[in-house]
Amino acid sequence: MFDSLPILPPDSILGLAAACRADPDPDKVDLTLGVYMDESGLCPVFEAVKQAQQSLVGEEQTKVYMPPQGDADYVSGICALVLGTATGKTLGDRVSAVQTPGGCGAVRLGAEVLFAAAPGATVWVSDPTWPVHIPLMGSVGLQFKTYRYYSPELRGLDFEAMLADLDSAAAGDVVLLHGCCHNPSGVDPSLAQWGALAELLAERHLLPMIDFAYQGMGAGLEEDAAGLRAILERVPEMIIAVSSSKNIGLYRERAGAVVFVGGDARAADAMTSQAIAAARRVYSMPPAHGALLAGRVLSSPELRASWQVELAQICERINGLRIDFRDALAATTGRNFDFIGKENGMFSFLGLSVEQAQRLRTEQSVYMLDSSRINVAGLNARNLPRVVDAVASVL
Ligand SMILES: Cc1ncc(COP(=O)(O)O)c(C=O)c1O
Repeated sequence: MFDSLPILPPDSILGLAAACRADPDPDKVDLTLGVYMDESGLCPVFEAVKQAQQSLVGEEQTKVYMPPQGDADYVSGICALVLGTATGKTLGDRVSAVQTPGGCGAVRLGAEVLFAAAPGATVWVSDPTWPVHIPLMGSVGLQFKTYRYYSPELRGLDFEAMLADLDSAAAGDVVLLHGCCHNPSGVDPSLAQWGALAELLAERHLLPMIDFAYQGMGAGLEEDAAGLRAILERVPEMIIAVSSSKNIGLYRERAGAVVFVGGDARAADAMTSQAIAAARRVYSMPPAHGALLAGRVLSSPELRASWQVELAQICERINGLRIDFRDALAATTGRNFDFIGKENGMFSFLGLSVEQAQRLRTEQSVYMLDSSRINVAGLNARNLPRVVDAVASVL
């Protein structure tokens, strides 16, 4: 049966990360994957997560299945984190949520619920968007259109073009937005622009689906949720796909949640029931370990305080790296790299051609995507001068 089954190429991003791992150059630099790395090049475990893990290992008495909706502490902790106290209170029982295997699982279950409610719906995605969005949601059966977002000429958001494109969407269409730290561009709307977007979504009866994978990595936990909350002031319904991979550092544990806001409590319950049924068709119950750890971190005042401090330090370090990189590139090349300092989170497009990005890999062992998207958090004091010289050499 499988004799002539085609062998597929590796995922483009994972393939480049693998090529970097195989590169024997001891000074190679990996800026490919969207993974936070500390000054020593390690993706660290949060101190609060280590402590939660120690207590969990001591206390855990069973490995019986998780409930389909997931760990109650985790799910309620995520809802509170994303919505905040005021919005959470206003929405009350119009909110429900399901624990998922990572943010990908959340995007997928969100797509399943959309398809169940409106199989003909069009999902509008930013140009560009995270390359996994379309296969992840499209394999459910949804259709896509793109709205203009990142402008290479402006080196930033073309907000007029974004609004113009979304203005042509039909009532009932879905708009997929990155809640903060847009992947791959690092370019987010300003708070005023989020407000204008909220108006447009409300006026045209468009449903926002927010991919929220980087809360706390851009400007802070509250600041990064401000756009999403501004939209919730104007629209009655929303789907939010949350990942705990980056901001709680649980990447391999696959912890995430899909948060549903319905027009009323019945609608929210219906969305959750559909998500649970969709999960049952594919993987049944969510994985336990990561969500149990995050549930402990979010519900314990001590662990939560420790986690928030560490997350704020990570955020500060990324923003510091952006400034150092911007200044060093400008000083070495004589060109303007101000855009790097204005973006949020881990990603930035350097504005290089595919050929330049390839030369950086083959000639300098500096690995970035063909689009010249870099993971800023892959930089550190040791490799930053090397990356700056390498970029200058291909410009
Ligand atoms: C934009 C975006 N959404 C969702 C995810 C999902 O992450 P995970 O499934 O690893 O939690 C990622 C991870 O890179 C992402 O960049």
